[in-house]
Amino acid sequence: MVHATEPFDQYVDGGWVAGEGVPFESTNPATGETIARFEHASTADVARAIGAARDAADEWRRRSYVDRAEVLWGVFAELRERKDELGEIVSRECGKEISEGLADIEEAAHMVEWAAGNARHPHGDVVPSEIASKDAYMRRRPRGVVGCITPWNFPVAIPFWHMAVALVEGNTVIWKPAEQTPYCGRIVAEMFDDAGVPPGVLNVVQGDGEAGAAIVDDDRVDTVLFTGSAAVGHSIDETLGGRPGRDCALEMGGKNAVVVTEAADLDIAVPSAVLSAFKTTGQRCVSAERLIVHEDVYDDFRDRFVDAAERIAVGDPLDDATFMGPLIDADGVAKFREYNALAREEGATVLVDRAELAADEIPDGHDAGHWVGPFVYEMAYDPESRVLSEEVFGPHVALIPYRGSVERAVEIHDAVDYGLAGAIISEDYRQLNYYRDEAAVGLAYANLPCIGAEVQLPFGGVGKSGKGAPSAREVIEAVTERTAWTLNNARDIEMAQGLSAELRFEE
Ligand code: UN1
Repeated sequence: MVHATEPFDQYVDGGWVAGEGVPFESTNPATGETIARFEHASTADVARAIGAARDAADEWRRRSYVDRAEVLWGVFAELRERKDELGEIVSRECGKEISEGLADIEEAAHMVEWAAGNARHPHGDVVPSEIASKDAYMRRRPRGVVGCITPWNFPVAIPFWHMAVALVEGNTVIWKPAEQTPYCGRIVAEMFDDAGVPPGVLNVVQGDGEAGAAIVDDDRVDTVLFTGSAAVGHSIDETLGGRPGRDCALEMGGKNAVVVTEAADLDIAVPSAVLSAFKTTGQRCVSAERLIVHEDVYDDFRDRFVDAAERIAVGDPLDDATFMGPLIDADGVAKFREYNALAREEGATVLVDRAELAADEIPDGHDAGHWVGPFVYEMAYDPESRVLSEEVFGPHVALIPYRGSVERAVEIHDAVDYGLAGAIISEDYRQLNYYRDEAAVGLAYANLPCIGAEVQLPFGGVGKSGKGAPSAREVIEAVTERTAWTLNNARDIEMAQGLSAELRFEE
């Protein structure tokens, strides 16, 4: 266990301070062991951190892009240097197997590289004017203070999606890491501190939804960036909706699907489906919980997928041989079990049930972990079914056979409120194009799993899955204002639209 007495919970105005709220612990979901102790930030702690961000905002926004990016390059070097250490902490704190822990740091580094690199790229558009003597162009101004509220499943990468761009664009930040992964948050704050971020430019508060709500509720926070559950995301949207000048970008999960048509190569379909459903133990926003499979290839696909689900390696996240680690916590396990039971109630035929792992499948010394294995079932499409439309966030996946054309598959695919990620597996380019044009998703893949986006792609969904994309180029929209700047180079004023510029007076 790390720390108990040092007050390094919150990073505010360039210093480490203890939180005023009640203590909480970060635990290893594979072992139940305590990793670190923290105190929740009180509402007053959050208010102080926002005040620090506000006070630092003017000085920071007046620096050049390149100058601001220099701080991020310092953080980039830290991410590279401390990759192994931090990757292991990610695996310990959120239970992802080690290659995923390391990939989380890699993805964070890529986002910093993108955001800091972008500082030296051309910005804005030169816009023609009707009047030859006028120059017009677009400028961006930072919005001010950006509040970042991030999930535990990508405890390092997703914070960087939000913060790297927000900072380079000239905003100051208040960040609340997920309460399940505060230690990752603490180390990221340490990296910024080591890289010499000016006091108040980045502030980190620890805690649960209450601290998040205090960020959302404070009108000094101009933009809220949120990645997490739909329930919380929609409440943020509602809170901010009636408040002029406040904005948000939200990414909130999905009920994602992989479509396998009659023209699919099953050697691509099966691994794509396994990766989509079980990577990160089904706990990605983009994980697939629906496999929509054409009847002509259904039996073959089902047999091969079931075989994989029965044998997939669940185990110690730090062991290279592991494919799936545990679920994040007891609530995650309870939700997974409830939905497994609901599938049965709604008439599913269960094909694989490893929800309760056998004792010999649980690694030695890990009995207190939140262990589950895949749960796979077959169910006819039913638009009324809850289990086929609600997000579970675990290795819970339905095989849904369909008959007819790709139009039918896409109809089933789109018959959920969410629309984050999806994939089609087919060798027929007309089917691929149909899916590309018609499927209602933010991230669409062909002959690939529906997970694994690179940072330079916008990451966001449609419908219940979100609003805007709190990552990469698209997040710039949420953290800046645009100014249309027009300069007259002549001595006379000449107006557009043929408007007279003559001042007419009473005789
Ligand atoms: C998430 O699903 O919660 O596209 C984030 C991916 C990763 C990010 C996933 N780059 O799978």
